[in-house]
Amino acid sequence: MSNEQVIIFDTTLRDGEQSPGASMTKDEKLRIAKSLEMLKVDVIEAGFAMASPGDFDAVKSIAETIKESTVCSLSRALEKDIDRAAEALKPASRGRIHTFIATSPIHMQHKLCMAPEDVVEQAVFAVRHARNLIDDVEFSCEDAGRSDIDFLCRIIEATIDAGASTINIPDTVGYAVPHQFGHTIAQLIERIPNADKAIFSVHCHNDLGLAVANSLSAVVNGARQVECTINGLGERAGNASLEEIVMAIKTRKDELKVTTGINTAQIVPASRLVSGITGFPIQPNKAIVGANAFAHESGIHQDGMLKHRETYEIMKAEDVGWNTNRLTLGKLSGRNAFKTRMSELGITFADQEELNEAFARFKQLADKKSEIFDDDLQALVSDVHNTN
Ligand code: KIV
Ligand code: ZN
Repeated sequence: MSNEQVIIFDTTLRDGEQSPGASMTKDEKLRIAKSLEMLKVDVIEAGFAMASPGDFDAVKSIAETIKESTVCSLSRALEKDIDRAAEALKPASRGRIHTFIATSPIHMQHKLCMAPEDVVEQAVFAVRHARNLIDDVEFSCEDAGRSDIDFLCRIIEATIDAGASTINIPDTVGYAVPHQFGHTIAQLIERIPNADKAIFSVHCHNDLGLAVANSLSAVVNGARQVECTINGLGERAGNASLEEIVMAIKTRKDELKVTTGINTAQIVPASRLVSGITGFPIQPNKAIVGANAFAHESGIHQDGMLKHRETYEIMKAEDVGWNTNRLTLGKLSGRNAFKTRMSELGITFADQEELNEAFARFKQLADKKSEIFDDDLQALVSDVHNTN
């Protein structure tokens, strides 16, 4: 029997952008969205259409451009937010509205100032309203990680009845621990009578460094969508990192008994692109995408590697997009080598003119520097995009 596929929902452009200092322009978001599509991400959360006119435009232009992935907009459980999300998603081949309301006692009492029964009523109203505008509706119980399980069962059953086809269980403040979070997911699926009518999703924050572990524990217990971001970008300590989730599933598929549809060879280019655009560097020892993730320093390890690669490697660098035969770029390099390296970094050009301009700038730089590094290329392309 083949392994079931976990839906990869990327929220780099929405939750990722909530990292202080990570805000992106519409064009930058579009470039990242194209890279996520090449990665074969199932759902791209493009933004929060109601948040600002800029966010609305970004969601709309991603909806116009992206054809292979579902494009999603976040919205509070409010009519005006949902209408705005639906408007931005109109051009999408496949659009999804993701509506949410908080369900934990602390959020309901101090933030929403609402009684639990009113929260259920508002959630049901929001999902019904969204379903009148679009077929694909996701409902999230914000701060589910600190919510009462009986209340979660009640609101989830009601929102599935109202038409939500994905139910997301966020650990908004990164409070969960793996065995307990997995147990919560199993309990919800077992106790909610109409649970089979929806896909259960998780959205884990990394405040205790457990976002990936909690997400995988949820998958083992029946979750079939994971929300994550490139490089683990996101509010505070970030979200579960896409590259770690995907490669854990790929490397331990027999143990986890699931798969993903991700084109893993695009992971490093996507990671570089997000880092270059946001200015958030990737720590060298970051799993999968850090510069040292596949480097072997000690003599014993190098000796083992030379004898048999699998002595110290559980996955292949080239499977995640590391270019092991990297060409050195310098002043003698041609346009083709330049274009190839750029596309390995996830950088594409709108037209020949933009390529020519970037190549001319590269040549000017190469006259001043003996070797051009990836960071130089990222900076160079940002200059071209900013001047056009
Ligand atoms: O962390 C969170 O609860 C969220 C929701 C809006 C899904 O980002
Ligand atoms: Zn979040």
